[in-house]
Amino acid sequence: MIPGKGRAAVMSFSVAIFGALMLQSVSSQNEPSIAASEHITLPVEGDSLTLQCNLTTAHSGHQESFWMKNGEEIAETRSPNKNTEYRLNRPRGEHAGVYMCVYTFDLAPPANATIEVKSSPEITGHKRSENKNEGQRALLYCKSVGYPHPVWTWRKFENGVFREIDNTTGRFFVSSRDNYTELHILNLDITLDPGEYHCNASNIVGYRDEKSVLRVRSHLAPLWPLLGVLAEIIILVVIIVVYEKRKKPEDLQDDDDLAGPAKTNSTNNHKDKNLRQRNTN
Ligand SMILES: *[C@@H]1O[C@H](CO)[C@@H](O)[C@H](O)[C@H]1NC(C)=O
Ligand SMILES: *[C@@H]1O[C@H](CO)[C@@H](O)[C@H](O)[C@H]1NC(C)=O
Ligand SMILES: *[C@@H]1O[C@H](CO)[C@@H](O)[C@H](O)[C@H]1NC(C)=O
Ligand SMILES: *[C@@H]1O[C@H](CO)[C@@H](O)[C@H](O)[C@H]1NC(C)=O
Ligand SMILES: *[C@@H]1O[C@H](CO)[C@@H](O)[C@H](O)[C@H]1NC(C)=O
Repeated sequence: MIPGKGRAAVMSFSVAIFGALMLQSVSSQNEPSIAASEHITLPVEGDSLTLQCNLTTAHSGHQESFWMKNGEEIAETRSPNKNTEYRLNRPRGEHAGVYMCVYTFDLAPPANATIEVKSSPEITGHKRSENKNEGQRALLYCKSVGYPHPVWTWRKFENGVFREIDNTTGRFFVSSRDNYTELHILNLDITLDPGEYHCNASNIVGYRDEKSVLRVRSHLAPLWPLLGVLAEIIILVVIIVVYEKRKKPEDLQDDDDLAGPAKTNSTNNHKDKNLRQRNTN
């Protein structure tokens, strides 16, 4: 029993060694090697940038190659060539990212090489202004292109200097992910909050800054037109009432007067006449 067990152990041991050696030689034989362009930082001289990959060794049958950007295949880049290129015309921030050439094989897993194209962030969208009533919530945002994704900060421009968002009130919330950031301001304060807010996107290549203007109106503001109309009506009513009150005694006299011969146009003359009549009575 013991020798049999020993023999079996030796057999399986040698099979394992042999298998490992075989595997190693097979994989080293098939290890593809790719010569790829260096990582690059924008801007570059000239009108275009060409990314290159050359498949230099591959022993199993090569099928095709294609390009990816930020983990997604770039359409219409599949080709059977061992040397492949991807051209960026007038490369800008939006072209920055992680590029990859991928080679597929008949009997082996795909192989790839990575080329990083870095650039300073560019802010491609932001809210220029936000108009809200006091007590409401404001939302400012910025979004960017460029690689690597930026670190975002928010500041307020006050009396000629930038101040970090002062959050002693706990009303400010910043949420940022990759190429997008949001600043929420809750329960807006009409004296503290209006002003210029800046988002700042910064990475190892550079930084960009963009401005948003926040205006805060009194919550009575929507009522002002209504209050104006009300005030006008009240003033009119007051004027009419006062006029009527002052006019009434004279009108009574005037009625007596109606049959009288000469009715003058002027109220003053009228009054004078009334006085005169009163005096004569
Ligand atoms: C790829 O091959 C071409 C042609 O042989 C050569 O001009 C180019 O420099 C090579 N590119 C890289 C990244 O090795
Ligand atoms: C690129 O190759 C690495 C191993 O070298 C692999 O882990 C990865 O999944 C490959 N990526 C793609 C997109 O093929
Ligand atoms: C922002 O990044 C996401 C993935 O992180 C990407 O899907 C989106 O296209 C990017 N937006 C811009 C404007 O670059
Ligand atoms: C402000 O304070 C609140 C509450 O302490 C916190 O949740 C929030 O993340 C802070 N916002 C900023 C921009 O620091
Ligand atoms: C933006 O942030 C970077 C890094 O923190 C800083 O060097 C730069 O001065 C900031 N830009 C502005 C306009 O505040």
